[in-house]
Amino acid sequence: MKILVIIGSPKGKGNTYNAVKKIEEQITKLDTAVEFEYLLLKTTNLQTCKGCFQCLKKGEEFCPIKDEQKQIEDKMMNSDGVIFATPVYVYNVSWIMKNFIDRFAYISHRPHFNGKHAMVIATTGAVGLKFVLSLLSFEVGTWGFSVTQKLGVICPPGKVQDNDAKKLYKNTEKHMIKASKAFYNSLSTNSPIKPSFIKLISFNLQKYAFFSADKTLADYKYWENKGWLKNNAEYYYPVKTNFIKKLICKLIVKVWYLNTPRPSDLKAN
Ligand SMILES: Cc1cc2nc3c(=O)[nH]c(=O)nc-3n(C[C@H](O)[C@H](O)[C@H](O)COP(=O)(O)O)c2cc1C
Repeated sequence: MKILVIIGSPKGKGNTYNAVKKIEEQITKLDTAVEFEYLLLKTTNLQTCKGCFQCLKKGEEFCPIKDEQKQIEDKMMNSDGVIFATPVYVYNVSWIMKNFIDRFAYISHRPHFNGKHAMVIATTGAVGLKFVLSLLSFEVGTWGFSVTQKLGVICPPGKVQDNDAKKLYKNTEKHMIKASKAFYNSLSTNSPIKPSFIKLISFNLQKYAFFSADKTLADYKYWENKGWLKNNAEYYYPVKTNFIKKLICKLIVKVWYLNTPRPSDLKAN
């Protein structure tokens, strides 16, 4: 089994890297055959997104930037699970992690990862974990990852009083062991995760938007090829949804598009 780790710290091997190394230690205790590959965004040739829209309109192959983007996507594709890890920078992910997310923005329109399991990790000096973990898991969720574990790690910058420090490290260790086991188990079973109601709504909103989109757009072609524009397509992969949920999704889509412009206004040029 192969786990790819994306480290989004501008420092490289700092607190975030060390936190993931501890997860690796726990997982390899459970199974020595699990391989970890680390991708430090700091030392990766991934240039900044220029906002030209070519990937969204025409296709990712039209991105004018020539760097390691495609190799990174292939690495994510060829792994059994991915760990996305970032420090909290002013209540957000680091800039280097945000750029990584932006460079793959087209995957939010054309999800590739089919429910592949992922874990998100954030480290912080004190605050911001909850928000950053939700943000990052939502974002990689739009690429088709199923985030099965979210782990926040507090790494206090200064000296911590003896008793407080002991309590914090003990608690952190407990959470790390629990999250490592749960992530390893989710990878071992590898069963598709039932999407939340919000995810079903999000699929239906995109389906409606792309159904009526300009047919020359990369998004339309992708959704059409995948069969996701068909009447009976309920999600990116086969799931069973009950009648009430389906009905509520339809209603929400109708109400949503009464007042919101659709991405079909985009033109592929
Ligand atoms: C520019 C910058 C902004 C930060 N913002 C926050 C913050 O909003 N809240 C917080 O508790 N810690 C904040 N920190 C502390 C880091 O989140 C913390 O030290 C983290 O573990 C660093 O991880 P790294 O060593 O992998 O880069 C910030 C650190 C830096 C350098």
